[in-house]
Amino acid sequence: MPLVGEVEISGAKNAAVAIIPAALLVEGVCRIENIPQISDTEMLLTILAELGAKVRFINKSTIEIDCTNARNQDAPYDLMRKIRASYYLIGSMLGRFGSAKTTMPGGCNFGVRPIDQHIKGMTALGATVNVKGGFVYADVAGGRLHGSRIYLDKVSVGATMNIMIAAVLASGRTIIENAAREPHIVDLANFLNSMGADVRGAGTDTIKINGVEKLHGGSYTIIPDQIEAGTYMVAAAATGGEVLVKNIIPKHLECITAKLRETGTIVQEYEDSVLVKGASEIRRVNIKTLPYPGFPTDMQPQMGMLLCLAQGTSIITEGIYDNRFKYVNELRKMGAEIQVDGRIAIIEGGRRLSGALVQACDLRAGAAMVIAGLCATGETVVEDIHYIERGYEDFVGKLNKLGADIRIVDFPEEPAPEKIISVV
Ligand code: UD1
Repeated sequence: MPLVGEVEISGAKNAAVAIIPAALLVEGVCRIENIPQISDTEMLLTILAELGAKVRFINKSTIEIDCTNARNQDAPYDLMRKIRASYYLIGSMLGRFGSAKTTMPGGCNFGVRPIDQHIKGMTALGATVNVKGGFVYADVAGGRLHGSRIYLDKVSVGATMNIMIAAVLASGRTIIENAAREPHIVDLANFLNSMGADVRGAGTDTIKINGVEKLHGGSYTIIPDQIEAGTYMVAAAATGGEVLVKNIIPKHLECITAKLRETGTIVQEYEDSVLVKGASEIRRVNIKTLPYPGFPTDMQPQMGMLLCLAQGTSIITEGIYDNRFKYVNELRKMGAEIQVDGRIAIIEGGRRLSGALVQACDLRAGAAMVIAGLCATGETVVEDIHYIERGYEDFVGKLNKLGADIRIVDFPEEPAPEKIISVV
């Protein structure tokens, strides 16, 4: 069924999951607006509260965090293990307390996801870092990191942001070269600067951080989520609908917009929204995922799903991760014809999808399966939707408002309760 109507985009997950741990550096009240209500932010707020932060919800998307009396103590490691972004606590605890004990990060499994560049950065700032028994132990002699010049061997979003967080309260100047340039990196820098930090160059490949003695409280509004917006854009295109995607920054969506236009989808840009109109015939395209401003890997499964409906053969090359095509098996269950060879997927389009029982293999793959369900004949049941809840605020509610027929079903089964999404 074509999706029709308007959808309001929430705050950016990947900005929020760095800004919340970064609030640990601030001795004062941080008021943060546009926090997305997703399980990753909930878990990070719980971790901060366990470290002694006062966390107060002003409304559903505005919080005040006061870390003045936060202490360096054991944190809920079971929660840390579940999320990727818990690695930002290495930077924020080191910066604030001079030592950190965290778990190795969790998150979606796209193959090997090392944190060697994070460790290289912390080490360059003077920390001693050891990984033992699934934990990361880091500490700095004298309790304060010192500025340094760091050249990242890989363009890493996480390492760039983690080093920024750690360096803000270090003595002297830090320079990060070959830095990632995603919008959430600029957002983190803006957040830190509004609390008194001195971070320059975010959004370019060289970021300079002049360490300061202290950060003070302040107010900050998180940018809209580029990937959530892109997901609804693809959903509109795939269902042949017409959706106004609101509360966005069109500039951040440029490469998604360009790719969708290549498929024949009409995208009209306004100041803080885009209107997406699906084409009667979707054209094939090739995609290669790259660091920003290239096409985002986090939009790859959604586009892969869309291209199952396109006329002709499309090729997707995954440029970031070794193993981000697990969702292909699930799409095959619905009638898709896709061959995968390492980091390349060849999609034979023009297939009619039919409803099936499928799994959300990870966060974005889960969203892709739900969109596939919207396009398929019959009922689709998506299992393991806790992945989707990690990064999409009220996905089911927002889709239903656009005319989808979709509901969450709870299965209170043993040993662990299971939740699924049913899409008709
Ligand atoms: C972040 C995002 C994730 C997104 C990814 C790429 C968060 C919480 N997650 O993940 O949604 O898919 O950026 O846009 O913000 N690498 C190393 N060593 C490191 C770090 C990374 O080899 O120390 C490699 C990774 O395995 C990957 C590439 O570098 O191949 C890019 O990873 P990175 O940008 O760091 O991704 P994450 O920060 O984990």
